[in-house]
Amino acid sequence: MGFDEWMDLALYHPSLGFYSKGGQAGRRGKDFLTSPEVGPLFGAVLAQVIDSYWNELGQPDNFTVIEAGAGRGALAASVLRAKPACYDALRYVMVESSELLRDQQQETLKYVAPADNKILSLEKLPGCVSGMKVSAMKPTIPFGMVIANELLDNLPSRILEYTASGWKEVLVGLEKDGPNFASHGNMSFSECLASISSEEQELATSLIHDTAVGTRIPLQTQASAWICQACELVDQGKVIIFDYGATTAELAKRGSWLRTYAKHGKGNSPLTRLGEQDITCDVAFDQLPPPARLQTQAEFLQNWGIQSLTADAQKKCHSAKPTTEALIARSRLSEAAALCDPDTFGSYKVAQWHKQGAKNRA
Ligand SMILES: C[S@@+](CC[C@H](N)C(=O)[O-])C[C@H]1O[C@@H](n2cnc3c(N)ncnc32)[C@H](O)[C@@H]1O
Repeated sequence: MGFDEWMDLALYHPSLGFYSKGGQAGRRGKDFLTSPEVGPLFGAVLAQVIDSYWNELGQPDNFTVIEAGAGRGALAASVLRAKPACYDALRYVMVESSELLRDQQQETLKYVAPADNKILSLEKLPGCVSGMKVSAMKPTIPFGMVIANELLDNLPSRILEYTASGWKEVLVGLEKDGPNFASHGNMSFSECLASISSEEQELATSLIHDTAVGTRIPLQTQASAWICQACELVDQGKVIIFDYGATTAELAKRGSWLRTYAKHGKGNSPLTRLGEQDITCDVAFDQLPPPARLQTQAEFLQNWGIQSLTADAQKKCHSAKPTTEALIARSRLSEAAALCDPDTFGSYKVAQWHKQGAKNRA
């Protein structure tokens, strides 16, 4: 099978998959940390972004935000807790493929959106085809946004390798004696290379020229198709994704763009520990439909007022006494520093696609 099929099984197989078994972002005891899990500040900035686009579109009575790959609902909780001005018009839809995580969303949002119909499931939107994954909807959402934090890096990716006879695809199989032999229970998996079509050869060559034998690149057709679908969902509004990555050529040069994580540590080969580790692939942004804006997360958060949200904390944190207020202020400042840290979250990318009516702001 292609590496994309392998990744799909390892992450999303109904009983064996990492996410189906409850793998998730968070702090203590979880597998990895994401921006919404750092604290409520990321969601508070997002609430300002949502308000701004709602205003731009003339404050429509219904404004729908679809959050794809919503995990346990941490971002939704922070956005709603920040009480955006559009609150009464806002319908927030969480889309999450893992049933276990969907169950946890109820717990996360218990005290945030108590039965006020603020949080909807996709099934409750008219004409929705699928509740677990973002997919075609008729009619589309007239006004709104699709947002996703660290979803695209988890969408199954193919892998190509440059050989003396051109680009080949890396496949995963049950062969016993390969150079990258790995085992799971009494099953063993290894890699082999297979030919690809001449169109795919041309595509790979257009993404990266003059490369050395042995170079590998991701081929992210699923991520690209996902963006197209997300853009089709909204008539007027935005699609905004937050993720790590670079261009295909940069990823090839840098290497280690395919990684595994479990319990906040680096994992093993993606062919081992089936379903026990996250498999993540840096996003090759040049393979996506060209965004209207591409900036770093630090730039995005600064453009959208993270400083104004921390200004109050700046004043309070200097209090000599360890009052609750001073401790909360310090925590908010360390959140801001983490979210804008140029070595980690701050270097992540934010890509935006605009649908008619929405202007190209920040
Ligand atoms: C890395 S986690 C990010 C979770 C959350 N957005 C956060 O930032 O903490 C990716 C999430 O996307 C979900 N997911 C993956 N593919 C999906 C799809 N096609 N539709 C909906 N959810 C998906 C996974 O189950 C997982 O919960």
